[in-house]
Amino acid sequence: MPPSPPPPPSPDLAALWPEEGLVPPPRRLAERAHVPDRAALAAFRAEDFPRPFAALADLLVWTTPWRTLFDDTRPPFWRWYEGGTLNACTNALDRHLPAARDRIAYHWIPEAESESPRSLTYGELLERVETLAAVLRDDFGIGPGDRVTIHLPMSLDLPVAMLACARLGAIHSVVFSGFSARACAERILDSGSRLLLTADVYRRGGAVLDHKAKADATHALVTEGGGRLEAVLVFTRDPDRYASPTPLHPGRDRLAAPLLAHRRGARIPPVPRASNDGLFLMYSSGTTGKPKGCLHGHGGYLAWVAATCRWVLDLHPGDVYWCMADIGWITGHSYIVYGPLLSGVTSLLTEGVPYDPDPGRPWCLARRYGVRVFHTSPTALRALRRLAPEGPGADRPPFDILVTVGEPIEPHVWRWYHETVGGGRAAVVDTWWQTETGGHILATLPAADPMRPGSAGPPLPGLEVAVLDEEGHPLPPGAERAGTLVVRTPWPGLMLGLWGDDERYVRTYFGRFNRDPRSRDWRDWPYCPSDGARIDARGYVRILGRIDDVINSSGHRLGSKEIESAALEVPWVAEAAVVPIPDELRGQAVGLFVAPGPGVPDDPTAARAEVARAVVERIGPIARPHQVWIVPDMPKTRSGKIMRRVLAALVAGRDPGDVATLANPEVVVALAGIVAAEKPAPPREPGAQTPGPGGGGGPTPGDGGAGGGARGGERAAGGDGEGQAIS
Ligand code: WT7
Repeated sequence: MPPSPPPPPSPDLAALWPEEGLVPPPRRLAERAHVPDRAALAAFRAEDFPRPFAALADLLVWTTPWRTLFDDTRPPFWRWYEGGTLNACTNALDRHLPAARDRIAYHWIPEAESESPRSLTYGELLERVETLAAVLRDDFGIGPGDRVTIHLPMSLDLPVAMLACARLGAIHSVVFSGFSARACAERILDSGSRLLLTADVYRRGGAVLDHKAKADATHALVTEGGGRLEAVLVFTRDPDRYASPTPLHPGRDRLAAPLLAHRRGARIPPVPRASNDGLFLMYSSGTTGKPKGCLHGHGGYLAWVAATCRWVLDLHPGDVYWCMADIGWITGHSYIVYGPLLSGVTSLLTEGVPYDPDPGRPWCLARRYGVRVFHTSPTALRALRRLAPEGPGADRPPFDILVTVGEPIEPHVWRWYHETVGGGRAAVVDTWWQTETGGHILATLPAADPMRPGSAGPPLPGLEVAVLDEEGHPLPPGAERAGTLVVRTPWPGLMLGLWGDDERYVRTYFGRFNRDPRSRDWRDWPYCPSDGARIDARGYVRILGRIDDVINSSGHRLGSKEIESAALEVPWVAEAAVVPIPDELRGQAVGLFVAPGPGVPDDPTAARAEVARAVVERIGPIARPHQVWIVPDMPKTRSGKIMRRVLAALVAGRDPGDVATLANPEVVVALAGIVAAEKPAPPREPGAQTPGPGGGGGPTPGDGGAGGGARGGERAAGGDGEGQAIS
């Protein structure tokens, strides 16, 4: 009997826009593109797996050549280029010298137009990296395999710190600067790092924020959690001045400037690492409350980011490139630091929010620096389109490639990007990937592939993807139904595993569709990213959203359970449930239902503010609930499980479906009334209040605590987990 057609993985996925036509790639790009047409990569046939991937290793310089291309001894912990050794910093910097010593690696652009940008050449960047590596090694005893937590804002110190760790063979763990002390401490405890790199202050949304205060709170929480943070190395935004009102803790806190001055000019030989040693940790949210430490390696990761920078971003040495993301997310690691440096390009690095308060500033900067490849997220584009629909106007920057990442992009936003920003002359590249995948997986090749607005496109050459139904059968291309995306072939960029949790790695990413856990055949281990998708007749994939309890707000990945457990720490909160609120700017916003127990404040505004504050304190302003509903009871199954699906339907204005099987169906009517009466506040108007892009492609004004959050009226000044504004 044929199986009955399964329902789409989530009712949210029913919200689909109609299929768009294909847009041809700009012909002029083919003249100098790395990949002028698909034939150029004809060797990358999935049938020939893994052989074609051998060529990607040649994009790197190796200390010792690899011996085994694809090691499948311990499925699904695939290992690439086994036997080889290399150093990531050598690949990013030393290799470009002396030929390109004077080429600019980064233009750092401060938030305030009144401040002067600072630039670093590849030669100067290497000098700074070696100097810091000397400090880390000789003053703090950091060596190969040690974990170093870096909680730095978007300054030049951040890539310098990452590369200094890489040079020594240490594993860096960058925590997004907008994350709270709690989130930072949690990551320090999990990774077992004993050194924290932090900053005195940074600017965001027009304010100067005290970041050092967070380091103090982090230290206290690490100690409380049984960890040992031996030292805190503090970088100052202004090289000659410590600007935080929070005092330095003698013996524990060390200012970076004098230590660096002492080691200036040091030469630190790069430490060769095995291809499958860890290069960095990047924590990411999942279905449980505990963030997952995705461990990326050397050979495979670097080869994949180098390859995708050629194929997808078409970066050439000396190109000017600007990715508006924060380095604190995977987009920044792969496509601001490692990929662009491996490619020898000149990148812009922007502090704060480049379009706040002036939405024309991104185009001004892009014009001033001659940006050829521009990279951002749908959330940033939605905000820019709303604030200044005219875009860059006739005096357009020399854009060839316009990249988007992090969330589904609506076709009308896609077209604005293509026509108004790019003048119809640039390729728009919608890239789908994840923290776990290291680099792009789905994307059109800018000179070679037709684009389809709203669809991320086909898998990259050499890869095979499928959209599976509930039983694990592939949906035929062109099927009207949605299913679950899987990547069938392994690829070099996939993480090595989850830090300290092999079992969770296998279960989370491979458990769903693996039928034989003993199989050594990679074909039995499709990678499951937890995204719902549709596949069109051409094999282009349209991503519909997460099918787990992850909310994608402004391209930030937020775990529902993390937010719920933060809310449950408020003493009077008895139950908490998080659902996504469809949001015109952010894609999704966080909706939080709480059922109170004894002790709830009489004033509902104060009660809601208390819950929101707990979430911000625990995670950071990016997770701030857009709306908190205090409700008498939650819809529950007879076994007592909260039916988030019903709540999500009410919030999205959909029919909650058949609720007769609930233990308390009558509560649904009451809840519908509460939700209707307390509509989420509309996003606030321009400037610091506008939500910006996050994990995907750019900064989020609301993240920094300087005016963010849609329900600003409920915020207590200062102490809500974000660095306090000091000016
Ligand atoms: C999740 C991964 C990839 C770097 C930034 C986010 C969503 C990512 C797209 C896209 C639709 C996308 C997916 C994915 N996502 N890119 N082009 N179209 N959705 O990395 O924080 O690991 O989040 O972001 O849901 O699973 P991340």
